[in-house]
Amino acid sequence: MRKVTKAIIPAAGLGTRFLPATKAMPKEMLPIVDKPTIQYIVEEAIDSGVEEIIVVTGKGKRAIEDHFDVAFELEHVLEEKGKLDILEKVRKSSHVNLHYIRQKRAFGLGHAVWCARNFIGNEPFAVLLGDDIVEAQVPCTKQLIQQYERTGRSVIGVQSVDPDQTHRYGIVDPRTKMDHLYEVNRFVEKPVKGQAPSNLAIMGRYVLTPDIFNYLEKHEVGAGGEIQLTDAIQKLNEDKGVYAYDFQGTRYDVGEQLGFIMTNIDFALRNADLRQGLITGLEEIMERELGKELIAGWSGRR
Ligand code: UTP
Repeated sequence: MRKVTKAIIPAAGLGTRFLPATKAMPKEMLPIVDKPTIQYIVEEAIDSGVEEIIVVTGKGKRAIEDHFDVAFELEHVLEEKGKLDILEKVRKSSHVNLHYIRQKRAFGLGHAVWCARNFIGNEPFAVLLGDDIVEAQVPCTKQLIQQYERTGRSVIGVQSVDPDQTHRYGIVDPRTKMDHLYEVNRFVEKPVKGQAPSNLAIMGRYVLTPDIFNYLEKHEVGAGGEIQLTDAIQKLNEDKGVYAYDFQGTRYDVGEQLGFIMTNIDFALRNADLRQGLITGLEEIMERELGKELIAGWSGRR
């Protein structure tokens, strides 16, 4: 069995949920505290043993390439000023070697993955989306690679979501379950509210065998008028079987505004330099918004 050494990071979407912030800036560059979302994703891929990463970019995404490039002038100034801790952070992102390919129009996630087919060739590969950041003892993509190595089949990362949120996700109709691994009747992209077969949702982490490209090349249009990766996965599931794996770890939904703001607060609270100031600031905001009695109860529970 061939090892998983390559990953695709699709980053060519329009980021409409964050407009107008994403009019001239890629959604993937929006920061969680001081690091762009895409850097968390790249680091997860590297920590999972991936050796080569291709980012699918599109119009207005040059900032991603600049972020992962060397910034000579900036580094020189930081060095001269003795700001070595910041210099180290800046250099961390320029040490990774990424490949890029452009998706000329945002036809959908399935199409974005298909754009990277020549880079992948005939090998199994990982796909990581920037909509979710996962914190886990064993990196999420590594968990999926381990399941792929056990089963030889494509494995899709899933976690349970609130039943009234299923219409936002690709959803799994599970058949059998062993430990955290599911055989799947079908994968459904964004089911109509109230008609989801379960609340197990696809979380933007995949390990796929290269035969997925046989289905993606048909360019069939699905939910939302887009070429959906989930539809190709369902076809592959019908022909060869695809597993869903309920991975361990905490997942942060950074692909929509509320999740993005909550994640920033959560991560900032774990930053020693920001924690106390943030708590004080939040208390003041809560007090102003909710009144003194409620804030007293909130502080007491903390
Ligand atoms: P999303 O649907 O979450 O991203 O796709 P989006 O389209 O940019 O965001 P909204 O819905 O308009 O707010 C998941 C991932 O797939 C990429 C996106 O960049 C994102 O990282 N994607 C999506 C592509 O690369 N190409 C596409 O055609 C669509």
